Amino acid sequence: MTPSFPVSRPRRLRRTAALRRLVAPVSVRPEHLVLPMFVKEGITAPQPVASMPGVVQHTRESLRKAAAEAVGAGVGGLILFGIPAVKDARGSAADDPAGIVQLALADLAAEVGGDTVLMADLCLDEYTDHGHCGLLTAAGEVDNDATLDRYASIAVAQAAAGAHAVAPSGMMDGQVGAIRTALDQAGHTDVAICAYSAKYASGFYGPFRDAAECAPQFGDRSSYQQAPSGSREALREVALDIEEGADIIMVKPALAYLDVISQVAATIDLPVAAYQVSGEYAMVEAAAANGWLDRERIIDETLTSIRRAGADIILTYWAVEAARRLG
Ligand code: PBG
Repeated sequence: MTPSFPVSRPRRLRRTAALRRLVAPVSVRPEHLVLPMFVKEGITAPQPVASMPGVVQHTRESLRKAAAEAVGAGVGGLILFGIPAVKDARGSAADDPAGIVQLALADLAAEVGGDTVLMADLCLDEYTDHGHCGLLTAAGEVDNDATLDRYASIAVAQAAAGAHAVAPSGMMDGQVGAIRTALDQAGHTDVAICAYSAKYASGFYGPFRDAAECAPQFGDRSSYQQAPSGSREALREVALDIEEGADIIMVKPALAYLDVISQVAATIDLPVAAYQVSGEYAMVEAAAANGWLDRERIIDETLTSIRRAGADIILTYWAVEAARRLG
């Protein structure tokens, strides 16, 4: 029935693409996107990751080329994950100045360092033979405080190699403070900390564990990552990280935790990042390969949702493709 009095008609602003663009409250721009990249020691050609079609483990050489392409496409930053040839109980390769991530960071600092933000994931799970994010006690539990010393040392090695930001992802209590202190003492006062503050124990990390070869050899990460049911706990983790000196706050995964992103963004005045993780990528790629979803549409829609929830920065394996489409 046609109303007999003037009413608001929201469809007026939906009539043409130009109107819809003019009133769009959020957008996704290439500079909002960060590309996660894997670099593996001891391989001579890039290795595809089976559960993440389109993603590879790079050699140092292929990494440089791909990084230059990503920066050319306009992405805002790169985050590096290293896979060492040899793993041990303490993850010795993680802070070795000749370790794969340090070498790759130095390569990228020389290649694209002036034009992008170079970040390094700071954790031990890719480097330990047991696959946990920290050192273990004799009883096989993750030893929080002993792990902090390792993280502090890794942070300094990554900063010395050329990282603009380090991104601690191990969810140890006090990790941001320990890293800030170590960076400052080593003279790296200007290296930022992008803290994975609200990181949930998530099934969505499954494909990443193939990519980074870091599945825990026993147990799971529930004693250090957050339980999926909580959001107040996320706010507490965020507040602690800010007190300890974090510069950017990350929520992870993204799509199943949009409410957490939104609460964090409403609460803090630091930049908020969200990580669209491996399982979010694999899910869409698999459905699209079956012809069940319109791949590009879903990529753009999920990125827009994450921005709408309040993320300033999005880490996504689709960064280059999305930057090219949106740029
Ligand atoms: C830990 C780390 C993980 C991811 C990023 N950093 C894995 C884990 O916590 O098990 C997951 C990223 C993704 O799934 O894309 N170093």
